This record gives sequence, structure tokens and C-alpha cells, in this order.
Amino acid sequence: MTNEINAVILAAGKGTRMKSDKSKVLHEIFGKTLLGYVLDAINKTQIIKNSYVIVGHQADAVTEFVTKNYDNAQTVLQSPQLGTGHAVSMVCPCLENFDGEVLILCGDTPLVTSETIKKFIKYHKNQNSDITVMSAIFDNPSNYGRIIRNGENLAAIVEEKDATTLQKEIKEFNAGIYCINWSKVKSAFSELKNNNAQGEYYLTDIISWGVSKGLNTNVYTIEDNSEIFGINSKIHLAQATSMLNQKILQKHLENGVTIVDTNSVWISQDTEIGADTVIFPNVYITGKNKIGNNCKIGPFAHLRGNVEIENNVKIGNFVEVKNSKISSNTNACHLTYIGDSEIGSGVNIGAGTITANYNHFTKKKSKTVIKDGSSIGSNSVLVAPVTIGEKCSIGAGSVITKDVEDKALALTRAALRTVENYIK
Ligand code: UD1
Ligand code: CA
Repeated sequence: MTNEINAVILAAGKGTRMKSDKSKVLHEIFGKTLLGYVLDAINKTQIIKNSYVIVGHQADAVTEFVTKNYDNAQTVLQSPQLGTGHAVSMVCPCLENFDGEVLILCGDTPLVTSETIKKFIKYHKNQNSDITVMSAIFDNPSNYGRIIRNGENLAAIVEEKDATTLQKEIKEFNAGIYCINWSKVKSAFSELKNNNAQGEYYLTDIISWGVSKGLNTNVYTIEDNSEIFGINSKIHLAQATSMLNQKILQKHLENGVTIVDTNSVWISQDTEIGADTVIFPNVYITGKNKIGNNCKIGPFAHLRGNVEIENNVKIGNFVEVKNSKISSNTNACHLTYIGDSEIGSGVNIGAGTITANYNHFTKKKSKTVIKDGSSIGSNSVLVAPVTIGEKCSIGAGSVITKDVEDKALALTRAALRTVENYIK
């Protein structure tokens, strides 16, 4: 028996209630897909070898996402979709000779953390368990499978639609995350029956199957119910975004970041922020970013990903930054777009400055470089590709289309003309 663990992620379902043409698991929170959150959490544990994503609806789009972004993940087609048990059975050919553990999760529960997955697997191993199910206790667990115990022991999971009135009273429900000893449990998948209320092959039936075979079945109860929040609708998507955001803000506050208004600041999971940085109201940060210490961000700033900001930088009102590096002591305080740029330290970007990075006809994006100590006058357009040297001065209102040498003044402004005594 090996110690290897592989993961199976169920993502073939239609997600009808999303009312969308897009696969449910490709919907995004802060620019990252729901499936991306699950795969990232799995990979962050560093104990899962390969992941198999079960796809059906929009299989091509999901496969493209997985193969493009994850080296250790692949998709397996389930068509038609005959239930969660049928979905897992699709990996049987891939795992024919595998004799480690298989972790099973759903692609629509993006809030699950790597810490919880690690604790769950550790529990499974410590119990020497063959089948472990994650449960949660809820006051009103409607629409979920209920955990049926025999004394302390796990006996079965009964779906709400198949449950008796008495079983519906049970407040412990199936969170939809499982860990199984593959070689002991794999034969269950050819024995599942679909004689239930939904006419589906239920994954949850592997519990009673395991009990009947004398396997060691266990329940791990999660500490934080919000982690297994499943997304079935746009309402859930908004709720999950907000729940995740509040957790992220909490973490930054604990790390010494000042957030003036936690009700209007949105920060993606993959953003690092140094201590003593102040985030003012109405700031929206998506994607992967790194912000240094002692910076001031906002109010009304938008960081769109792949942004690296060093210490003591000011990004003020109505400033949008994407795919750019900004070195220390640089300010862009008002009304600016910085895209695909590399900006040195001690630079001042005047109000209304635009890095014109995009050619609509060639669809090409080009880079702007501004070296240390330069001053970009207000309302300038820097047409990329362009390099502004060190300690340059760009006159206000200029359109810069050529590189500017160190210490030069560049301006494209028409000479000022004044007409005296114009008003009679
Ligand atoms: C399932 C569980 C239920 C549990 C709940 C937790 C079963 C039978 N029930 O119910 O006990 O409380 O999750 O969220 O497993 N999927 C496929 N192929 C299919 C069917 C589903 O890949 O043929 C995927 C879906 O895309 C989804 C996941 O499996 O990601 C769960 O399926 P869903 O139909 O939503 O199951 P629930 O009714 O929520
Ligand atoms: Ca579901």
C-alpha cells in the first residue's frame, strides 16, 4: 500500500440554477474560477499527487481551463450524468492499479481551505479509516444528505428526498467531501443501485455498502461551516464572495494592515499586503498582487492583478493598475491608468496620466517604462512601447510616442497664446 493521495473533483453537473450558459465551476470570485479555488486548496496541502476533474456540461471549456492552469490535474468525461456515484466511477480506468487514498470533493465549494483538507486526511489516517465523510452541524440543513449514525458510528447517508420525517430532523449533514481507501472501496462503484427518489447512482451509498462489508467508516465534523458553502445560484455566488472577502480582510487586519471600511473594500485571496499600509474605502483588488508596507491605496482604486507595489507608494482616487511593477516612494494619486508598466522609485505620476498600452487593431499590448525620479505632468498620455529615462520631466498635457533620455524635459504642448483685452 502506498501513501499516495489522488483527488477527484465532481464538476459535471449542469448548475441549472446559475441561469448561465457557462459551466457553474467556471464562474469566478475575484477573477478566479470556483474550480480554481478548489484545485488551489488541494495543491496547497502539498500531499495530493494528481487531481481528476469529472466534467460533463461545458466539458471542453472546463478541460481547457484545467489543462492550461494545472500540471497535475486532468479531466475525465462523464456523459450522461447519472449521479455523484456514477461520476466517481469514471476514474476507475485511470486508477486501476492505484492503492492509496482518494479524496473526493465538489467543484462548487470554493471556500474549503487547505488546512481543513489536511486535518481531514490526517483524521482519516489516524482512524485507519476506509471511508471518511466530512459532516457539518446546521440548524436547518434542508436539501442535504443526513448523517445516520449507529451510536457513535457512521451507518449511512440518506438524501433529503429519500429521508423519513424522523431522519429529516437530523441536524448533521453530509458536506460532500470524502476520503476513501481506493483498493478497498473501488468495487463499490460497480455495485451502486439507482433505486432512489432521484433515480441516480449516489456516491453517498458507498457508506452503507462499506458498513455491510465490515469496513471502517468514520465522520469528521468540520469546525467552520462556511468552508463547505456550496454554490448553486448567483445569490450563493455573491454570498460566497462576501464571506471569502470578510475572511481575507480579517487576515489583513490581523497582519497590521489598516482597512478604513470593511464594508466597501474587496481584496482577492492571492493578494499580499505589508503592515502599516492603509486601504481606504471603495477599493477593489482582484487577481494576484503584492503590496508593500506603508502604502496608501484608495479611496476608489482598482488593482486588477499581477501588480507589485513596493513600500511607501500612494495609489489614490480613480487609479487603475494592472500587470505592473511600481517601486518605492512613487505616487499616482489621482485619475490614472497604469497598465503593463514598470515604474521606478520616487516617481510622481500626475493626475490624469494614461499609459496607452493597447492597440485595438493589432490587439497587441505594449510596455511602458518610467525610470527613477521622473515626473509625469498631469494629463499626459504615454503611448507604449515607450521608455521614460531617469529624472525626466514630462510636461503636462503631452502625448509621448518616443523614448525620452535621462534628465530630459519632453513636452508636446502647443505654445500658449494669450489675447489681451479679449473681453470688451
Ligand atoms: C450531494 C450529496 C449530499 C450532500 C451534498 C453536499 C449525493 C447523492 N448527495 O447532494 O448528500 O449533502 O452533495 O453539497 O452525492 N455531479 C457530477 N455528476 C453527476 C451528478 C453530480 O459531476 O452525475 C457533481 C455536480 O456537478 C456537483 C456535485 O457533483 O458539483 C454534487 O452534485 P449535486 O447534484 O449538486 O448533489 P447534491 O444534491 O447537492
Ligand atoms: Ca449541490
